[in-house]
Amino acid sequence: MSDTEVVIQQLLELNQRLLDSITSGDWQTYSELCDATLSAYEPEARGHLVEGMDFHRFYFDLDSGDGPRNTTMASPHVRLLGDTAVVCYVRLIQHLDAEGRPVTDRFEETRVWHREGDRWTHVHFHRSANA
Ligand code: GLY
Repeated sequence: MSDTEVVIQQLLELNQRLLDSITSGDWQTYSELCDATLSAYEPEARGHLVEGMDFHRFYFDLDSGDGPRNTTMASPHVRLLGDTAVVCYVRLIQHLDAEGRPVTDRFEETRVWHREGDRWTHVHFHRSANA
């Protein structure tokens, strides 16, 4: 495996860890992987760019406990730009609807990571509406 392939694999694992921390409500892991100035466009922000961690913390604090969930990055693509990386994929979330039937939500996501020394930190993301 080339050095570039190793870095790409590392980024995919980090990104999956980030998504799994959201799925499991693990704020400690999520906040460790994110820069404090994280910027984001996501449907919850109603078309606004949100900055910082407070907006995201709100959802972790809800402790929804709404049954099993599984998150998959489908067809991931990683673009390395020196100490910056752009990770794109379709995020699939399997869960149960109100009647207990399995359903899958899908979102297009772009997540930007920045490397300082040996450490990659999540600095920006953009998620589409569920479609
Ligand atoms: N709303 C948290 C995240 O998708 O990173």
